[in-house]
Amino acid sequence: METSVSRFLPAALVAAFCASAAYAWDVPYVPTPERVVKKMLDLAKVGPKDVVYDLGSGDGRIVIAAAKQYGARGVGIDIDPERVREARQNAEAAGVTDRVEFREGNLFDIDLSDATVVTLYLLQRINEQLRPKLLRELKPGSRVVSHGFDMGDWKPAVQLEIDGDWVYYWIIPERKRVGHPRETIPRRDEIRLRR
Ligand SMILES: C[S@@+](CC[C@H](N)C(=O)[O-])C[C@H]1O[C@@H](n2cnc3c(N)ncnc32)[C@H](O)[C@@H]1O
Repeated sequence: METSVSRFLPAALVAAFCASAAYAWDVPYVPTPERVVKKMLDLAKVGPKDVVYDLGSGDGRIVIAAAKQYGARGVGIDIDPERVREARQNAEAAGVTDRVEFREGNLFDIDLSDATVVTLYLLQRINEQLRPKLLRELKPGSRVVSHGFDMGDWKPAVQLEIDGDWVYYWIIPERKRVGHPRETIPRRDEIRLRR
């Protein structure tokens, strides 16, 4: 199966990026189609115990769907105050304000340690910049689902196409032990001191 995303760049996102000459943020606003939202949440097996973070949450549709249709809690962050206002209104209309929260801010600054699922519709370059943060802050077993863009040489556990839209899925691995196992063996002088 094709793994390079370059042949499958979502046209809408790339067109929006090129059109926005005065664009100041990392990624322009293009919403994920509802059928792709459903596939992303199904793929991550989102359920009532999950806390879903959408980084660059737009009109809030992923977080709102996670709360309304899957019973999860959710947090969306977006740098555009207009999008945050819109997402809050949509959450109100969907009756999920008790389970979702939308914050205005930079996705690189949000603490992810509470999340069990992270969703992305950004750009390949941003995904790759985010990767160390995801691996550092998310608990092992947490899931990451990206619409449209992969993470370079961090190969997804699953990738699938839905009518021309690609979705990628990763599971955060156990943390590697730092240092060589022999470093955990006490040195001779430490053994003497312990006696
Ligand atoms: C392609 S849209 C995706 C919206 C939504 N996640 C979805 O899938 O429907 C990307 C969103 O990221 C937001 N964004 C761009 N750069 C950002 C940043 N540095 N921090 C937070 N949000 C950002 C944009 O305002 C936009 O709403």
